Amino acid sequence: MINVLRNVLRTTRVVPFSLKRSFSTAPKRINLWTQPRSSSTSLMYSFKSRGDCSVVDEPLYAHYVEKRNVYRPYREQLLQVQSPNIDSVLSDVILCENKYTTDLVFFKHMGKQLLPDTDWKWILQCHNVILLRHPRDVLASFHAGLGDVESAIEESGLLSLWDIFTYIKETKSNKNDDDRVCIILHDDLIGNPEGTLRALCKKLGIDFTPSMLKWEKGGIPEDGIWAKTWYHSSHASNSFIKKGVESSLKTLPEAVESAIELDLLKPFEELQKLRLKPEPILPDERNAHIKIHVGGKLLDRNDAKISVFDSVVQGGDAVWEGLRVYNGRIFELDEHLQRMVESAHMLMFEGIPAQDEIKRAIFECLHANKMYNDTHIRLTLTRGQKVSSGMSPTNNQEGCCLIVLPEWKGLVSSSNKSVSAPMTLITSTQRRNNPMFLDSKIHHNNLLNNILAKIEANLANADDALMLDMDGFVSETNATNVFMIKDNVLYTPFADACLPGITRKRIIDMSRSSGINCQEKRLSLFDFYNADEVFCTGTMCGLAPVARIDGRIINPSNPKYPGAITSKLQKEYLKITEDDRYSVKIEDVKF
Ligand SMILES: Cc1ncc(COP(=O)(O)O)c(C=O)c1O
Repeated sequence: MINVLRNVLRTTRVVPFSLKRSFSTAPKRINLWTQPRSSSTSLMYSFKSRGDCSVVDEPLYAHYVEKRNVYRPYREQLLQVQSPNIDSVLSDVILCENKYTTDLVFFKHMGKQLLPDTDWKWILQCHNVILLRHPRDVLASFHAGLGDVESAIEESGLLSLWDIFTYIKETKSNKNDDDRVCIILHDDLIGNPEGTLRALCKKLGIDFTPSMLKWEKGGIPEDGIWAKTWYHSSHASNSFIKKGVESSLKTLPEAVESAIELDLLKPFEELQKLRLKPEPILPDERNAHIKIHVGGKLLDRNDAKISVFDSVVQGGDAVWEGLRVYNGRIFELDEHLQRMVESAHMLMFEGIPAQDEIKRAIFECLHANKMYNDTHIRLTLTRGQKVSSGMSPTNNQEGCCLIVLPEWKGLVSSSNKSVSAPMTLITSTQRRNNPMFLDSKIHHNNLLNNILAKIEANLANADDALMLDMDGFVSETNATNVFMIKDNVLYTPFADACLPGITRKRIIDMSRSSGINCQEKRLSLFDFYNADEVFCTGTMCGLAPVARIDGRIINPSNPKYPGAITSKLQKEYLKITEDDRYSVKIEDVKF
């Protein structure tokens, strides 16, 4: 079916239009070719928000409606405001030399508006972006019925996009033609707008601007006259967001399902394979060029790698610590190193480096990055490289491998949220390891117990997950220890099925010495839901207040986060981080 359709389209194409100008000069013209229901209007608003881009809404619409004799409720008005003559549209709107004062011009088009019996050469003078959505999702998002199968296939718009893509690829004329077309996915744009827009801008040779992520609600003057009919949901939002019911949950007529399967799935999958992958987004751009210590060498971020034979790759066989730098000093350094060495001893690592050696590597790395504040260090000690894959430590003949990874990172929760915003928790179905299986006192890199819980938190849009022990009592979160306050008493679970956190210990000692009654106790969810205050602790976040657990607001009659005692402890903890007695100075090291 797809081949028959394509051949018909190919053979009817004629070439009446001769080119008037070379497009090596500004402005840069971008055609967006898309299907209905694919966030193309949002993408048009996004480009408009850059400030250096003019946008034009479907300039080929009248041409398409007239030539294909298509009915639309606004047909007459459309034919009045837009020329149905493609040559005029090209010379007066798309290819016009003096019309635009901006550096960029963005033309939004439905793929089907590029009719096969016209000359397509002009599109080679522009950058072309194909915005692709799974045909099933496109068709399922139509509110009204889909009519016959043929028109459903046409409505999906997919075959037109396939044709545009293959036309551009097949008429390559110089080496830059690879840049003349790219494919982005609707799902990427909605799921990861910044990464997708960054990748797209890079491909187009333009800077990404954060203004592309937000615009005013309610539409723009450039909206086509059809906006009232089609743009309700685009006008209601000011960013790329998921709209409507998940289309995979809707049922489509059987004939349409099988047409999708037979005619549309293959071209969709072929195009999808060529999609631009969203760019990775660093939470802090300052970390783009850091230096990392790996196995005794200081390496640039992109070169900092370990062997595939390393034990951490083979079995998560490593131990780790998270450390923090405050005011040129490393907080609780000796305590962290002791915990790391004890964990490595429990796992019978051989050739554990001396603590002075580890310190030297840390200092060297911090100096190389000029990091003396606002820094978190991920310290990892692996069992080292194996001579052959497998789990047995008898394959380890080279001794341990130390990794010092320092990053610019303020006090944040594990979801990278500043601790000034209170956290939301859910309870995980995963039980935190107890010593019967794998003692949580070992600070090891086999973090899947915690990662599975974190995935549940992510799916529930929560910051972290509370984890229970074997008996159903609260142990900790996937990344932090937990405390609660009830009637002025501070409680925390026994360290039986949780990491005995260094921050946890510091808070217990600190509160006891400042007269707060602090008790270790078996605590259930009932106690946490009904607490006056709840907070999490860890080197990464310090003390982070919790506002909600499993939908229950903490202290609903006085919802203040941090609460009075948490706030007092936060201040005292901050003082301790500044107190030289609890930290080690970053010493000078000769390189
Ligand atoms: C599971 C878990 N709990 C608690 C903590 C907090 O420990 P600390 O206060 O020593 O940073 C961590 C930190 O690594 C952790 O991974």
